[in-house]
Amino acid sequence: MASPVTCLCFGANLFLLFLQVLAGRDFYSILGVSRSADIYQIKRAYRKLAKELHPDKNKDDPEAQERFSTLGAAYEVLSDEEKRKIYDQHGEEGLKQGDMRGDPFSSFFGDFGFGFGNVREQDKEIPRGGDVILDLDVTLEELYNGNFVEVLRYKPVAKPAKGKRKCNCRMEMVTQQLGPGRFSMTQQQVCDECPNIKFVPEEKLLEIEIEPGMRDGQEYPFVAEGEPHSDGEPGDLRFRIRQVKHARFERRGDDLYTNVTVSLADALTGFEMDIKHLDGHKVRVVRDKITWPGARMRKPNEGMPNYENNNVKGSLFITFDIEFPKGVFTDEEKKGIKSILKQDSKQAVYNGLQGF
Ligand SMILES: *[C@@H]1O[C@H](CO)[C@@H](O)[C@H](O)[C@H]1NC(C)=O
Repeated sequence: MASPVTCLCFGANLFLLFLQVLAGRDFYSILGVSRSADIYQIKRAYRKLAKELHPDKNKDDPEAQERFSTLGAAYEVLSDEEKRKIYDQHGEEGLKQGDMRGDPFSSFFGDFGFGFGNVREQDKEIPRGGDVILDLDVTLEELYNGNFVEVLRYKPVAKPAKGKRKCNCRMEMVTQQLGPGRFSMTQQQVCDECPNIKFVPEEKLLEIEIEPGMRDGQEYPFVAEGEPHSDGEPGDLRFRIRQVKHARFERRGDDLYTNVTVSLADALTGFEMDIKHLDGHKVRVVRDKITWPGARMRKPNEGMPNYENNNVKGSLFITFDIEFPKGVFTDEEKKGIKSILKQDSKQAVYNGLQGF
């Protein structure tokens, strides 16, 4: 921690920063991002911390709730261009003059939907609209690097309408007197009268973070963004990650597989090459020994990032195949090749499928 004296010596900028810390909480350090962080970095930091600090995950910590709402406040300000500007200039105090409405969670996660707590467990009887599951095509590049995808959803929203409608319908027994001493009992549907509603489509921008290492088939929920229900709660909207086929890499778990074709000349004399990875970095491949067809090379840490721990990466497996020259050699060339290869003539017949 810099002392006030050193801060003052560093000039106006740092002095301002110092004042700000005095004036309120330092939202940048709460999110663990630099003051020049872009919105992308802020969102990522927030999402990561929100998972870690969520009170459901820290039930034994009495301060969990407090820390979680501080985080929410920091995110609300820094993710909003206007508020961030005010905050940068006047600190948290400056923001208190303006209004601070809005709930950062609802805009970011739907209504809190990243798989904590079963909010819905207690109210099982309340009718629910259907869940909506949508496939989201994601490239391997996005799954390697992470990305934010925005989806514009037209969500049917209930609005008041003219008239009344039947609601809370249930079956009840009704007794009717048919004559002296004779009754009939029938089951009958009974409903209440409620103010009428109509569903009007409303635009809503949903933001999905493709996190590094997410897997094919993984679901990303937005609680209560699914089908509405006129008498109950809406269902959930879930995006299902669909990894699209990649031209160069095949993914198995956290490992990546690629095939490289080299010429026979390269296979015999050695070669150097680069494989362009999913974020554009180059994986150097150097061979000086002879490369056999089917030879496999493993590059540790060049696979996919692990979803649970992005610092751990799988391996990249490179399998070589060899392109033979076309055409015919002259007798002279054949002699030359034989003298260079110094290999005896050999024709061995064997059952190559043994044991499969
Ligand atoms: C590509 O490599 C895989 C192993 O990673 C191998 O099973 C497959 O046969 C190779 N494909 C070709 C066309 O050589």
